[in-house]
Amino acid sequence: MNLLFCCVGAKPEPWVAGLRAELPEANVQDWTPGALPADYGVVWAPPQQFLDEQPQLKALFNIGAGVDALLKLRLPPAASVVRLDDAGMSVQMAEYVSHAVIRHFREFDGYEADIRSGKWSYRKPLMRANFPVGIMGLGVLGERVARTLTQFDFPVKGWSRSPKTIEGVQCFSGEAGMADFLAASRVLVCLLPLTPETTNIMNRETLSKLQPGAYVINVARGAHLVDEDLIALIDGGHIAGATLDVFRNEPLSTDHAFWKHPKINITPHTSARTLREETIAQIAGKIRAVEGGTPITSLAGVVDPNRGY
Ligand code: NAP
Ligand code: GLV
Repeated sequence: MNLLFCCVGAKPEPWVAGLRAELPEANVQDWTPGALPADYGVVWAPPQQFLDEQPQLKALFNIGAGVDALLKLRLPPAASVVRLDDAGMSVQMAEYVSHAVIRHFREFDGYEADIRSGKWSYRKPLMRANFPVGIMGLGVLGERVARTLTQFDFPVKGWSRSPKTIEGVQCFSGEAGMADFLAASRVLVCLLPLTPETTNIMNRETLSKLQPGAYVINVARGAHLVDEDLIALIDGGHIAGATLDVFRNEPLSTDHAFWKHPKINITPHTSARTLREETIAQIAGKIRAVEGGTPITSLAGVVDPNRGY
């Protein structure tokens, strides 16, 4: 069985060595133009040339959870796309989002500024009941984040395409449930996949439906958010601030208003990183299952091209 590694931005040597160690029966190579035909690709943002040269590929294993960039390419006709199914990401996402919610709710930025200016002062505790957290997207990552936030006793709301039942979480679904979900949320966390339906989903109209003093956390993709609308709503006072990990163009251009906005915290797309060992183990396990007769379409994380995630 032949496997090609083609991940832009990742150093190939440790990946190829790790895949060879997990799949000793496979011929694993780092892709170069003209490579022999392979059965499987392990990919991240591969060049179109790789896909065009490998029309026989049976599956493309994406080394991230989001497949929006991959689905923009012309894919080999018979290749299933398989995304990462957690692989150590959900705990990172739960840490990141909990940190952002708690930092805002406990006013830690304000305390830090006070301390730095030599001021010993207390703020009146805020009421947790007044900070319902709404999670858009209740998949592998969103559900873990929702469950984690219930442990801190925040009221937690969730919104997904299909109806869900999650203990301690008030779930809404579909377009029909969106307005009620937004009205019930003061903190909004985006953990949706980027699809035509979810592009620009956080805009002036939807963000205005959040409770006054809202806080926005985007950890999914930059194109979910209309940047100017967020800034206008923060400057107008309806939104208190935001934590943003993802941007329409990455790296974020040096002149973007987000860098210096006093009410916006940014991080460089780091909320849930791909962990090499977990990722290799997951992909190798799936390849072994397929080689053993499991249909690719029954693997966890198989992408439905019609849904776009
Ligand atoms: P997932 O398991 O596929 O979950 C996606 C969730 O979004 C599902 O609950 C789905 O609803 C919901 N959804 C999709 N389209 C919707 C729509 N039109 N309306 C309402 N709900 C919709 O994905 P995941 O593994 O949790 O990952 C989510 C995203 O996080 C990825 O696509 C990626 O872009 C992003 N991500 C970011 C980082 C980072 O470091 N910043 C790291 C990893 C992932 P159903 O349950 O009904 O299908
Ligand atoms: C990272 O953003 C991912 O999609 O895994």
